[in-house]
Amino acid sequence: MNSLTSALHEKLAQALAQVHEAKSVQALYEVKVAFAGKQGFLTEIMKEMVKLSKEQKPLFGKEVNQCKTAFETTYQTREGQLQEQELFEKVARDSVDVSLPGLKIPAGAKHPIYIILHEVVAVLSKLGYTVRTGPQIEKDWYNFEALNIPPDHPARDMQDTFYIDANHVLRTHTSPVQIHALLSEKPPFRTIAPGSVFRCDSDVSHSPNFHQVEGLLVDHKVSMAELKGTISFLLSELFGSAIKVRFRPSFFPFTEPSAEFDCSCPICASKGCRLCKFSGWIEIGGSGLVNPRVFEAVKLDPAQWQGFAFGFGIERMAIIKYGIDDIRLFFENDLRFLGQFSV
Ligand code: DAH
Repeated sequence: MNSLTSALHEKLAQALAQVHEAKSVQALYEVKVAFAGKQGFLTEIMKEMVKLSKEQKPLFGKEVNQCKTAFETTYQTREGQLQEQELFEKVARDSVDVSLPGLKIPAGAKHPIYIILHEVVAVLSKLGYTVRTGPQIEKDWYNFEALNIPPDHPARDMQDTFYIDANHVLRTHTSPVQIHALLSEKPPFRTIAPGSVFRCDSDVSHSPNFHQVEGLLVDHKVSMAELKGTISFLLSELFGSAIKVRFRPSFFPFTEPSAEFDCSCPICASKGCRLCKFSGWIEIGGSGLVNPRVFEAVKLDPAQWQGFAFGFGIERMAIIKYGIDDIRLFFENDLRFLGQFSV
């Protein structure tokens, strides 16, 4: 055996070992390029043939061809193995475990303020009340003057009211909707106005933006007894028939007489708790018979028309209903808080 032939066999043995060791189709291919590629080992060694005698040349050529075939056969077997292995790995990587639970798409929840608001609307519409809204930016006249709140009234204090300009405010209550209703509707009528109101105030129990519901009933003859009946019905529908309601004399410029109304604490059944400040009662809102001066402001004859009105905060209702003690939670939109009200 000449030295070229032994170099050839040595290299073939090396290349076959590399074929067996190759861990990927790509690594395997690189072994092939180096051994049998256009500029690989076999091509180079063929160039050395010139050094051989005339008799040795064809024998060596045959030898090279045999090596090439031997390499090719081993190569293809290994390539098949590696391709199969890579396929298995890919399938394992991409596989889907159909027994796993599906992705949960969380359902949205109604905001607690919205829930209460709709309950109030549902209860009062049973009594024939329509629902109306009013502007959140109000003329001073609607928010104050027509409601018998004169310019020097403490309710107008700069600390409470967001003034837009000398004539316009962010409404501080829903009561101005009473004026819109009185100006646009022909009495007798009964209506409620839920909506956003604004005051310069912010702490655990006050938010600069909160919600109220206003109620107004106008007819020829209206009594405090009817007002009490309406409020009692509303509160017992909202908090359960075991609830007790009480009225306390109070003052509002737009009602005369005026009364604030409380309900017995539904959290502790009037035994005394933090929410009712151990009094057994919770303040809900204000009410009264429409002050004749309000009728005069909208050019209705107070000798012909009477009415009752009431107003209360929705956040307060939600605080009672859900036992929440920080009003800011309603406005922060923390999904962990809001998610608890999903139905
Ligand atoms: N507007 C009052 C407030 O924001 C609440 C109120 C009291 C409304 C008496 C009324 C009423 O309709 O009759 O504090």
